Amino acid sequence: MASEQGAPLNPEPIGFAPPYIDDATIAAVERVLRSGWITTGPETAAFERELAAFTGVPAVLCGGSWTGLAGVILDWFGVGPGDEVILPAYTYCATANVVLHRGATPVLVDLPPTGRQDGLNITWEMVEPLLSERTKAVMPVDIGGWPIPCEEWKSRLAMWGLQRGFTSQHPVQSKLGRPLLLSDAAHALGAEVNGSTVGSQADLSVFSFHAVKNLTTAEGGAVAIALPDGFDAREVHRELRALCLHGQTKDAASKYSAQGKGSWKYDVTRPGFKCNMTDIQAAMGRVALERYGQDLAHRHSLADAYDQALSAIPGIELPVRLGDGRRSADHLYVIRLSAAASIHRDDIMEALAAAGIATNVHFPPLPLLTAYRERGFSASDVPHACAAFHAAISLPIHRLMSIGDVQRVASALESALISFAPSDQG
Ligand SMILES: Cc1ncc(COP(=O)(O)O)c(C=O)c1O
Repeated sequence: MASEQGAPLNPEPIGFAPPYIDDATIAAVERVLRSGWITTGPETAAFERELAAFTGVPAVLCGGSWTGLAGVILDWFGVGPGDEVILPAYTYCATANVVLHRGATPVLVDLPPTGRQDGLNITWEMVEPLLSERTKAVMPVDIGGWPIPCEEWKSRLAMWGLQRGFTSQHPVQSKLGRPLLLSDAAHALGAEVNGSTVGSQADLSVFSFHAVKNLTTAEGGAVAIALPDGFDAREVHRELRALCLHGQTKDAASKYSAQGKGSWKYDVTRPGFKCNMTDIQAAMGRVALERYGQDLAHRHSLADAYDQALSAIPGIELPVRLGDGRRSADHLYVIRLSAAASIHRDDIMEALAAAGIATNVHFPPLPLLTAYRERGFSASDVPHACAAFHAAISLPIHRLMSIGDVQRVASALESALISFAPSDQG
């Protein structure tokens, strides 16, 4: 049905982040299902090589999720009770949950005060005062795909390690000689800093391939290994891979495919987890990676269209996406409402839902979540993260949207802002 102007009265709903599953993805999954090998095997190995080439690092390890990989990395680095890991308050719970799982303490960083902000990312100036002899890792998050300048952070951490004399009995920690820079790059595959792709700057960068991410394998993740000289990336890959599979010295593929006597034999050197990637997931990932350049270009063009359509609307702040040698992966498009409009943030989201437009909020800061509040984390310690959260709306951005959809979201948002604007008559 069409209105008098010819626009459909009931246009198609715009989902928040539906996965893009094309025929090539289905064919690749079918090929693996029919191949006789469905768990970690040749497809996963190929995906790892292709991701290493894409991110420009010597080795990548795939796993069952960001969470599984980040957890085994903290174990590998010897993070445990009494240790601290510095990370943002403004992030998804996974970033901090993996630290709690190790019995270590997440040290939450607030966002910087207004005027010194770097998108929704924490800044080095906010991190530095929190470093102590208990700090074993710093875990910044590239919120929405806007990358942290990790090369610079690594040098600052090395400088801090030299000045403060970082010492440790743990062999991997003492080899690094400073806290680990573990990038939560869950949102940032394909983001760039000074011409290099995210993954090549931090010591270890972990990506998520969860269903809503830019590149999805339904569930899954990968770690790009870019540790400094002195670390052999292939050896680190081997150690982390074992930790993703109970600590076994051989995975299923090498046990079954190797010929000859005793190929089944393996040892367990330390109790690991079970968070390996299957070849079915890897097959999805390989297809998505092959077309990722086009997908990313599409995201950039949608985000450009949002910038253009929303820049003239008063009362909203647009996300930081480009500049200072950095380019976002445009995973999320998070707008921030003015203080007056943010009182009606949830009403505005409901108005958009009524217009068939799904939105979301990234993220409630950790102290607002019961598990963290009950562990003594307080919202009053992170006021800027809380203010950003109350003002934030994530607008839909994904491969199935068109520029016309962006214009529809922008005009529905403008109407909602007008209808909830405080009236001059009071
Ligand atoms: C910032 C951030 N870190 C970590 C994760 C966890 O990723 P996964 O679901 O792959 O474990 C997510 C997932 O949404 C995330 O948004």
